[in-house]
Amino acid sequence: MSRAAEALRARLGERRPRIAMILGSGLGPLGDRVEDALRIPFAEIPGFPLSAVSGHSGTLIAGRLAGVEVLVLSGRVHFYERGDAAAMRPAIEALAALGVEVLVLTNAAGSLREDMPPGSVMLIEDHIAFAGANPLIGEPSDRRFVGMTAAYDADLRDAFKAAAERIGEPVHAGVYMWFSGPSFETPAEIRMARTLGADAVGMSTVPETILARFCGLRVLAASVVTNYGAGMTGAELSHDETKEMAPKGGARLARVLSAFLPEIDPS
Ligand code: HPA
Repeated sequence: MSRAAEALRARLGERRPRIAMILGSGLGPLGDRVEDALRIPFAEIPGFPLSAVSGHSGTLIAGRLAGVEVLVLSGRVHFYERGDAAAMRPAIEALAALGVEVLVLTNAAGSLREDMPPGSVMLIEDHIAFAGANPLIGEPSDRRFVGMTAAYDADLRDAFKAAAERIGEPVHAGVYMWFSGPSFETPAEIRMARTLGADAVGMSTVPETILARFCGLRVLAASVVTNYGAGMTGAELSHDETKEMAPKGGARLARVLSAFLPEIDPS
C-alpha cells in the first residue's frame, strides 16, 4: 500500500467508501453537501498532488452524499500545470488501494454543439486524447496496455441517464476531446474537433480515466458546459467565464449525481 493509502486508511477509520468523485470547476458546492464529513487537505496526504489553479482547492472529503458513502476529491491537478499527465496517479492508486470501485469524474467543458448551450450537462460516452500525452508513459509493466474500448462504463452510463430522466433533468451525451491547455483552442482547432467527432472540449479528465482503468476502477464522467467552443460565437474565452458559468450547470449535475449515487451497485 502506498504511503498515501496508508495515511488515508488511518484517517478514515471504519469508513469503507466504494465510490469516489473528483469535482471539477463549479462542482465545489457538492463537496459542501457531504454529510458526516471528514475533510483532509491534499497537503496532509503524502504524495497527493497539489494544485494552484484558482477555483480548484485540494481537499479530500469523506462522508455521505445522498445517503451513499463517498470519497470526494475537491480539486485536481491538470496536465497543463507542470506537463505531467500522471499527476493524479498517486491519488487514484490510493483510492483503488482503499477499496474504491467506481470513480465519478466531473469537469467544465466547451460545447461544440449549438443544441448544447452553456449550463448544459453532458455525459461523457467516449473520449479523444488529443493532448499528445498519456499518464502511463514510463510505466514499465505490461499492465500499461490498458484496453479503452469500454472506458466509460455502460451500466453506469445507463444508470446516470435513468436517474436524470427520473428527476426530469435533461442531459446530453457525447464525446469529450482532451486538449492540453492552458491556452484555449483556436477556432480552427474547434472546427477540427467537430470534424473529428467531438461534442465537447476540455483540459482534464482523460488522464484520470486512463489511470482509473489502469487501476481497475469503473468510470462515470460528466461535463458541465460553461461556453461554446472558440469561434462559435465570436466571443473571447476566459477562465473567469468558466468559473462564472460553471455553477449553473454544476447545480444541475449535482442534482443528477445525487439521484444517481444511490442507484450505483459498485461491484
Ligand atoms: N476549452 C477547453 N477547456 C474548457 C473550455 C473550453 O472551451 N471551457 C471550459 N473548459
